[in-house]
Amino acid sequence: MNMAAAAVDEQRQWGRMMAMAQIGAIPGDGVNRACLTALDRQARRLLIDWANEVGAAVSVDTAANLWLRLEGTDPRAAAVVTGSHMDTQPNGGRFDGIYGVIAGLEALTALQQSGAKPRRPVEVVAWTNEEGGRFAPGCMGSMAWSGFRRIEEFADVVDPDGVRFAEALAAHLAAETDLPRRPLGSRPHAYVEAHIEQGPRLEAERLDIGVVTGIQGSRWFTVTLTGETAHAGTTPLALRRDAVQDMVRAIKALNALMHDPMDVLRFTVGRVVVEPNTSNSVADKASFTIDFRHPDKHVLLARGDAVAGVVQAAVRDAGVTVRETFHALPVEFSPLVIEAVARAAIEQNCRQMRLPSGAFHDAQFVVPVCPTGMIFVPCRGGVSHNPAEFSEPSQLAAGTRVLTQALLELAGR
Ligand code: GLV
Ligand code: MN
Ligand code: MN
Repeated sequence: MNMAAAAVDEQRQWGRMMAMAQIGAIPGDGVNRACLTALDRQARRLLIDWANEVGAAVSVDTAANLWLRLEGTDPRAAAVVTGSHMDTQPNGGRFDGIYGVIAGLEALTALQQSGAKPRRPVEVVAWTNEEGGRFAPGCMGSMAWSGFRRIEEFADVVDPDGVRFAEALAAHLAAETDLPRRPLGSRPHAYVEAHIEQGPRLEAERLDIGVVTGIQGSRWFTVTLTGETAHAGTTPLALRRDAVQDMVRAIKALNALMHDPMDVLRFTVGRVVVEPNTSNSVADKASFTIDFRHPDKHVLLARGDAVAGVVQAAVRDAGVTVRETFHALPVEFSPLVIEAVARAAIEQNCRQMRLPSGAFHDAQFVVPVCPTGMIFVPCRGGVSHNPAEFSEPSQLAAGTRVLTQALLELAGR
């Protein structure tokens, strides 16, 4: 076995995972650690402490992406980058995101302890706000880093408490002024992100490693319906402008638009806000989110572009606005990274399959910048975005050994 991969320590990694899971722990073994909160900062400090122990240099960019860097033998060589995110869904689990960051740190630790001297620097990044649970959309940090969007474009996005993203980011960066700043954006040699699968395939097929071939496309919309509030006991139905009833009509029409007998398309209405939200008043405002995904760009574009018209046509009484908040086309990963991961899995005696990702990841926005790929490890029942999310310590360690070996190959000797 490769010396660096052999230095991956299952217990150390599991201990770090469980220490992180304490920060924002919620009942049922879950985690609620929203981006740019005090809990996020606490988790980052813990990561920084561990990075210091390993001798990695820590820095932060203006999107608050956090970077840990181990130098290679050639200081001018482009880095090989790994990482993921540390924020969670409000009702999230202990593995989504943080595994990729801890796996990256474990890889750095193993490289260091084994005395491996790759030519290129190896960097671990913790991207800001991948989940989009507090500030929508997700992947803000990686979008800003890649130049896909400017970080300033998100300034006025507000969280459910009305806090602006710009203010949360400024407060966060003010708390990390002790960290060296690095410019936003870079040109890595390659990027490889480890993550739990968040789906059932690897477990069902008793496999250790998913060699990820690409990511399906995603589009997010927010639909806002404006009616008029009125007394529930006295106002005749014919005189109402009921935002909730129009929301029901709109969602029914969207279900028809998104119907897919093949069950490939994914359509979710996950957040609904109703005002005044009281049982005996007609609602004057209803807003809901649409999360729509498909692996085929043409379907993604055609049906996504139809959303606004379908909603307008379905609504009877309320005023309507439809705003698109996220637009990520499907991506295919690079053969350079795919093959490096597949070779590493063979060398680690891991049973593997190739599969696309249904979830989006920061890797999606790294694709235009450098050769990119991902490694999946199984998770129990495919459960994710749920406190019950679980992967075995041994499954996580196998993924990290494959990651370490792939990083070493990509970083060159
Ligand atoms: C990522 O969290 C996703 O929703 O796919
Ligand atoms: Mn994730
Ligand atoms: Mn997630």
